[in-house]
Amino acid sequence: MPNQKWNASLYDARHAFISEYGVGLVTLLNPLSGERILDVGCGTGALAQEIAQTGANVVGIDSSPEMIQSARAQYPGLEFDVQDASDFAFAVPFDAVFSNAALHWVRQAEETAACISRVLKPGGRFVAELGGQGNVATITAALQQAIYETVRIRTHHQWYFPSVPQYAAVLERNKLETTAVWLFDRPTKLIGTEGLRNWCLMFGSSMLGHVSDGGQDRVLARTEELCRPHIFRDNVWFADYRRLRVVAHKL
Ligand code: BEZ
Repeated sequence: MPNQKWNASLYDARHAFISEYGVGLVTLLNPLSGERILDVGCGTGALAQEIAQTGANVVGIDSSPEMIQSARAQYPGLEFDVQDASDFAFAVPFDAVFSNAALHWVRQAEETAACISRVLKPGGRFVAELGGQGNVATITAALQQAIYETVRIRTHHQWYFPSVPQYAAVLERNKLETTAVWLFDRPTKLIGTEGLRNWCLMFGSSMLGHVSDGGQDRVLARTEELCRPHIFRDNVWFADYRRLRVVAHKL
């Protein structure tokens, strides 16, 4: 997750939903005892630990040293390593590669797929979930408009939210055959009346970075105003998440 300095405890406390909503993905992975499984973008390690409870041997990698430090402290029995999703290698191949809510931070999708393919055994599976085409479109458009109105700068988000055919093609070019894929809306509750603001501060720094600290409050208030008719219901903010889930097999 380049250019993003993570606060591991804020991530755990306020954004626990990232791990919680990933739980169904572990079921889809169906880890078996004794399997060697790689978790790419493991964050603070909660899902790596859940996978390991089945008896699988899990290795977690994340580009953030803060996340890996926290994962090692919480789950000392597991192996965690600081490695970039688009540039990693292992000598011993894996039965499966897993990734939840991480790969939308990596714009080098081709390189990432090449690394994943290279570390999988033939027939090995890749099970992943990431933001899909249209993910957080309401929030992003509002933030962009609010920034433009405030400082007259046109910003772009830095995430990778592919469509189904785009992602299947990336995988196919890297000897990963897509065997199942889903693109679905998952409106996601944000905690508290400051939820949208906190989300923007936590995740929108590539856009908010164009605004001085003094201007950020105005931008965030305007973002809330623009989003309210669409994603604020019964006093709760819902991020307009759209997930792309994929299962692919190494040819
Ligand atoms: C997501 O999980 O979809 C996401 C999280 C942070 C920023 C962008 C997308």
